[in-house]
Amino acid sequence: MTKMNYTRDNLWQIEEVGFDSRYLGKTESIMALGNGYLGSRSATEERYPTEQRDTFVAGTFNKFAENEVSELPNVPDLWWMDFIINGEHFSLEKGIVSHFSKRLNLKNGELIREFDWAFGTIELHFIFRRFVSKKRRHYLSSFVTIENLTEAAVNIQIRSGIDGQVTNNGSQHFYEGEKGLVDGKYIQMMPQTNESQIDFVFTAGHRIKAENVRERIEMGRRQIFMNYFFDLPAKGTAAIEKRMSIYTSIDNDHSDREVTAIRQRAITEMEALEDISFDELLQESAEKWNEMWQKHPIEIDTENFEDQLAIHFAKYHLHIMTPAHDERMNIGAKGLSGEGYKGHTFWDTEVFMLPYFNFTHPDIAKSLVTYRYLGLDGAHKKATSNGYEGAQYPWEAANPSDGEVTPVWGAADIVTGQSTKIWSGFIEQHITSDVAFGVKQYIDVTGDKEFAEQKAYEILFDTAKFWGSRLEYNAENDYYEIKDVIGPDEYKEHINNNAYTNYTAHWNVTYALALAKELKRSQPELFNHLNEKLGLDAVLDSLAEKVDKIFLPQPTEEGIIPQDDSYLEKKTIDLTKYKSADSVDGLFHDYNLEQVNQMQITKQADVLLLLYLFEGLFPHEMKLKNFEYYEPRTTHDSSLSLSTHAILSADLGKLDESYEFFKKARNIDMGEYMKSSDDGIHAASLGGIWQMIVFGYGGVRMIDGQLRIEPHLPKAWKRLTYGFDYHGESIDVVVTKESVELTKEDNGNNVMFVSNGETYSLKNKLLITLEEV
Ligand code: BGC
Repeated sequence: MTKMNYTRDNLWQIEEVGFDSRYLGKTESIMALGNGYLGSRSATEERYPTEQRDTFVAGTFNKFAENEVSELPNVPDLWWMDFIINGEHFSLEKGIVSHFSKRLNLKNGELIREFDWAFGTIELHFIFRRFVSKKRRHYLSSFVTIENLTEAAVNIQIRSGIDGQVTNNGSQHFYEGEKGLVDGKYIQMMPQTNESQIDFVFTAGHRIKAENVRERIEMGRRQIFMNYFFDLPAKGTAAIEKRMSIYTSIDNDHSDREVTAIRQRAITEMEALEDISFDELLQESAEKWNEMWQKHPIEIDTENFEDQLAIHFAKYHLHIMTPAHDERMNIGAKGLSGEGYKGHTFWDTEVFMLPYFNFTHPDIAKSLVTYRYLGLDGAHKKATSNGYEGAQYPWEAANPSDGEVTPVWGAADIVTGQSTKIWSGFIEQHITSDVAFGVKQYIDVTGDKEFAEQKAYEILFDTAKFWGSRLEYNAENDYYEIKDVIGPDEYKEHINNNAYTNYTAHWNVTYALALAKELKRSQPELFNHLNEKLGLDAVLDSLAEKVDKIFLPQPTEEGIIPQDDSYLEKKTIDLTKYKSADSVDGLFHDYNLEQVNQMQITKQADVLLLLYLFEGLFPHEMKLKNFEYYEPRTTHDSSLSLSTHAILSADLGKLDESYEFFKKARNIDMGEYMKSSDDGIHAASLGGIWQMIVFGYGGVRMIDGQLRIEPHLPKAWKRLTYGFDYHGESIDVVVTKESVELTKEDNGNNVMFVSNGETYSLKNKLLITLEEV
């Protein structure tokens, strides 16, 4: 039996107790290690058929074959170690395993696995420790201790090295390249991706703490490893430390582009660390982690300690998955923790993860939005190939210039037995306004004028230009509509006038027109520059003609905003069975997508997301009615759904209901269901955890360039402490049921914000009592 074990005594630890090889995927993902440069699933050192060993280096996309889309290659495995004990292959599937604990320290990123293993007369205690350095981005370290618990010596053979036989579910992305032993000390392997031609250098060095160790190198196809043989005396202890590094020819922290130079660099840098111990390396990495933890810590005073643990868990993952070091890269929907979604970036970034960075790490947020600026070429490519103008962002993105990389074929259709066509890459077009929205939020929250002038405005105009060309005139109704799309609810394909898509496109166009007006007045030079680049004059005239005629689905007599032209006419079915299931694909065991298309079944927040993001456009009563209409029709099959529901219901004063959504949402990966995360963690849901706390209960929102703070705590919380950055100011907030206290350094700057219709100016300290709030 295995299960997750969380305790109120340690709010920085996620632990699995008991071993069961059927559920390896859970902790491989949720205990993944990384530093944004690289990410690695926490697969065990020894191998099991049910494992998924994955390590990725951000941004190293490769297209294995012409008919495939590019994906992040699973790089050669460095963690692997085999133990042969008295001639017996060590495996937890044999013998008796006791006191099994696998735990991740979220505070310093150290993974520990320990247990006793008894097999015949052998009785050993194993401790495996490892981490990926946050200080030295190329570094991974592992330290294994083996203690002999018996009175008889045991013979031990350890095989440890670099294994290039790993694939992405069968697709091998690498040419093997050279491999070898350097200075009798380090083993190296230098594969190259077959299409993107990125060179990789993997280096590993071992140190053994045991008596009379004999060693032998061995090589196999795509493998290089060392064998160590020794006897472990009665009650004795031995240890093996493995230091590993990964470099590539696209790294931006060195200028070496040739394999020979990178190899040399890897060796020199590893040699330079000879005198630093495992614990010292861990310590310096922990200090880097600490810098992050000190920035706007969140404290929740509640009996439900999992809430506090969840925000530690979410922040840990948000940081290990984000390639903050390189603006050519962005966050994958599964971070760097699994092959799911091929490492691709979705709207998940702008709508779910970016807000966390905007408000707490603006420098990282800047890198993420810059990626979209660099993606303009790819977005032009996509628009042109579809016969549109301007920038049409890809639904799934890899390298910024690649354009669309969504695969075309997906899971089996249970009715036809064929692969289902994935239409998102063709018609899930709201991504373009999501990117525009994200960029606008970034400039509003940070006040980064330079980015606005040099990059953001261009994106905002270019995306509006796309919408201008995308709108279709409907002569009968004399309006412009957007037909044949997929909205956020991916269970409705080829629909017309998805409310979310139309409203956000309308916002994008309206904002671009207002911006043009403002720039012409205040920064004519900048306007002229952008005009020359994008041909704005012509575009703006045409947008101005169209904007008031963009069809915005209006509420029915009952106050329901139609999700699209046909949704409300479709039949409904009882969704209880699917809503209460642990796994999310239950619906498709009974129906195919075409059938689901014909029913009022919504995969994830769609209209409700619109009401949350553009709250100013819709009155309270209308939001309430739509919430009550759509939620029962929503399966929450996407991990992007629950957090939106938690926040919106909190806004609507349904705090108990909201808190139930919150608990479900924080459990998407952390929860008890052991198959939840096999393909990788759910990045958007982790951004959602932060949003539920700071936006939902902390009440922070950036609406139309206006900061708003309207906290409301769920019953179970006594007090919430959080902080955020706003226009270069750092603001601390303490919320109780009675009051909200805001503090910032008294530096002469005032921060203006609104709260329930009142405008406040924060100079240093401000206390708002709940009556006022
Ligand atoms: C969701 C999308 C999301 C994608 C990646 C899908 O299941 O429906 O909204 O962008 O997963 O997380």
